[in-house]
Amino acid sequence: MSLSLIGKSVSVSATLKLNETAAILKQKGEPVIHLGGGEPKTKAPVEALMAVAGFVNSGEIRYTPADGIPALKKAIIRYTEEFYNRKVEPENVIASSGAKQSIMVALQAILNPQEEVIFPAPYWVSYPEMVKLIGGVPVPVLAEDGSFYPRLQDIEQRVTSYTKCIIINSPNNPTGAMYPEQFIAEIVEFCEKRGIWLIMDDIYHRLIFDGKKPLNCYNYAKDTSENSKLIVINGVSKQYAMTGFRIGWTIGNKRLISAMTNIQAHQTSGPSAITQIAAVAAINGVQSSVESLRLTLENNRNIMMDRLNSFDGVKAYKPDGTFYCFADFSYYQKDSTKLSKFLLDKVRVLTMPGIEFGLDGFLRLSTCGTVREITEGIERIKWALDPNAPNELYIGERKLVRDWL
Ligand SMILES: Cc1ncc(COP(=O)(O)O)c(C=O)c1O
Repeated sequence: MSLSLIGKSVSVSATLKLNETAAILKQKGEPVIHLGGGEPKTKAPVEALMAVAGFVNSGEIRYTPADGIPALKKAIIRYTEEFYNRKVEPENVIASSGAKQSIMVALQAILNPQEEVIFPAPYWVSYPEMVKLIGGVPVPVLAEDGSFYPRLQDIEQRVTSYTKCIIINSPNNPTGAMYPEQFIAEIVEFCEKRGIWLIMDDIYHRLIFDGKKPLNCYNYAKDTSENSKLIVINGVSKQYAMTGFRIGWTIGNKRLISAMTNIQAHQTSGPSAITQIAAVAAINGVQSSVESLRLTLENNRNIMMDRLNSFDGVKAYKPDGTFYCFADFSYYQKDSTKLSKFLLDKVRVLTMPGIEFGLDGFLRLSTCGTVREITEGIERIKWALDPNAPNELYIGERKLVRDWL
């Protein structure tokens, strides 16, 4: 079949594939524990649900402006003032169908074929594929000191005349690392000096622990004019547990936003009218659900760390935020795809292989589930890998006998 080069080059989403496998197993009644998830299990804010119900009842669900309804832009402008202490105008804002589309359209607006996009590794699985979809070249950068905290020199070394953009995601999916303020200050300054676009993917910025406060990249920007190449991405998916609503947004200079609006107008005509209404209600509503989600995630993170630290062969790194824990299992198996498959086959625990995020030997374990799912999931993994664990394990009524160690 004569598929395009892009059609052939973009990889299947391994995370979605694993989710499908787990869903099929679950349908067959298998006792799968899902530690692979990338979405909170809590309910969307009640204001959002009520707003949708009222709007749908009106029966008048029409096209909206391609860059979002005025009420949503207004809510995003207020959000930007509250969390970034920055006043922007409606022409600096575009809402999209999820932060994923926000990033994709932003890249389409700035990137030419062959141009390079740098991002720290481990990275969110979609960054390399999005860049490839536009014909650009993804440049993942591992920190030289082996940590999850990149330094400016790690990135600087990889900058070439083709570098068009740098993407920073902090706190980070999959590591949960929140990059230090100094790094954010340095990268903002560096990009300004070198005329490189900087995309701050702040989708997890409020889901942070240990008393940390969200960082504001604008604090370090000297250029606050309409020539600024600083782009901020955010959305309702994670903080409001509204992944299925598909609303994200971009703050950027007016020319960028206008180009993005033109692109988006031809792609989707704009995000769904229904979910825009829901997003307005969530952003303007009582914010207690965000804090309660944050507290739950912090507690789950602590439990996950406690359990992982009980393994002899696992190196676990304490996440500063998000709902992921990225742990080194290479002592047991260096090939993370094999390990992930093994754990699903043998003990029905779904984990995400680190290689998908740019680092083999690691597994991404999600803390989105219940405390029971986390403790039982980790217990099953321990049983599968630890030769000192008893030879038998009960999953409900089912007795498993280990015959592989
Ligand atoms: C780092 C990062 N950025 C962006 C997104 C996209 O979020 P949305 O659901 O708003 O498209 C995700 C979702 O997993 C993510 O992990």
